[in-house]
Amino acid sequence: MQRINVKKAILLGVIFLGIGYIGFHALDKGNALSDDQNVDVHDLNKFVRRANDASVKDINMNINKVLANQSEGFEKALLQKYGPIQFSSVHQVSTLLTSQEEARQRECIKNGPRDRGQNGSKFWGAAEHIRRTHHGYLAREDAVLIEVGGNQGNDASEFVRLYNPRYIVLEPLEQYAEILRNKFQNNSRVTVINLGLGAKNEVLFVKIEGNNACATSKFSGMGGETPLYISNATEFMMKLGVGVFEVDLLTLNCEGCEYEALETLLSTSLVRHFRNIQWATHSEIPGIPDPVGRYCRIQELLSRTHRPTYQYRLIWESWRRRNLA
Ligand SMILES: *[C@@H]1O[C@H](CO)[C@@H](O)[C@H](O)[C@H]1NC(C)=O
Ligand SMILES: *[C@@H]1O[C@H](CO)[C@@H](O)[C@H](O)[C@H]1NC(C)=O
Ligand SMILES: *[C@@H]1O[C@H](CO)[C@@H](O)[C@H](O)[C@H]1NC(C)=O
Ligand SMILES: *[C@@H]1O[C@H](CO)[C@@H](O)[C@H](O)[C@H]1NC(C)=O
Repeated sequence: MQRINVKKAILLGVIFLGIGYIGFHALDKGNALSDDQNVDVHDLNKFVRRANDASVKDINMNINKVLANQSEGFEKALLQKYGPIQFSSVHQVSTLLTSQEEARQRECIKNGPRDRGQNGSKFWGAAEHIRRTHHGYLAREDAVLIEVGGNQGNDASEFVRLYNPRYIVLEPLEQYAEILRNKFQNNSRVTVINLGLGAKNEVLFVKIEGNNACATSKFSGMGGETPLYISNATEFMMKLGVGVFEVDLLTLNCEGCEYEALETLLSTSLVRHFRNIQWATHSEIPGIPDPVGRYCRIQELLSRTHRPTYQYRLIWESWRRRNLA
């Protein structure tokens, strides 16, 4: 075991260097982002070092290799489309709420349980397919979809059938990542990555729960034997190259990871590179701190740049960047 870990750690370093190179290019080419916090090679080196830390050294090799491999083609396409790479920045944005935003947050918290009840009873069954059928803009050759929480690919199959976008599916359970890889082995537009997203890079051990493991969560299933590999959402997106290109849809259905992933993305200017953001709100999973309060805060932070296009509050919703029709 120890020997494998060392081998893995070395491989990981090499692969992350490769991806880091791409991430380097990932930084925005200046469309309306200021340069007050340039990300330079030192940050990436720091990241590569962190990736070799004991806590994250097991982050799955093969998947990263596939990511690096696929990103290479991606990178060529980007180069073609955007020209030579330039350095720019992803900068922190303030996540303090104004007093107006705070007032709305309080209102949202007060109405939360009622909204969840009423919207939930409308969504499940009758309306739930909206999360797949709402995204006609994905039917473009160059559309990019990132899904967090692929499970066994029920939504993914529908997205592929309806739109066949350039599709990156993240699934933290190796067993399910394998199912997804098999399912989409003949579709070169689909890339499966054995990773979850959250606030920081970490490996957690959980119990598999729910029908088809669909309820396996960092929050309810701690203390099991199955590793979940979680990446800092911002770092992952930067490594992927978000910022040079835009993501048409980020969709999250990851048993509570939505909070940390969204909060992380909302804390930098990277959030502006997602044209649409859709997520499931798992506000009733035990162990998530203050889910309704955080949901309501995310509403306020996200409305600075995006607006809802459909919304079943505290259930499922999708938002579009304000400058888009
Ligand atoms: C990388 O891409 C090449 C060409 O598309 C393919 O033949 C190879 O199997 C890929 N490697 C991995 C690890 O996916
Ligand atoms: C959600 O519930 C609220 C009332 O709690 C209602 O006003 C709103 O229309 C519902 N949303 C949808 C999409 O049905
Ligand atoms: C992929 O293509 C191969 C060769 O045509 C076929 O045997 C296999 O069943 C396909 N797999 C899937 C999951 O469609
Ligand atoms: C996540 O990554 C970003 C970008 O590197 C960094 O600024 C932030 O501090 C990281 N968050 C945590 C909790 O490590």
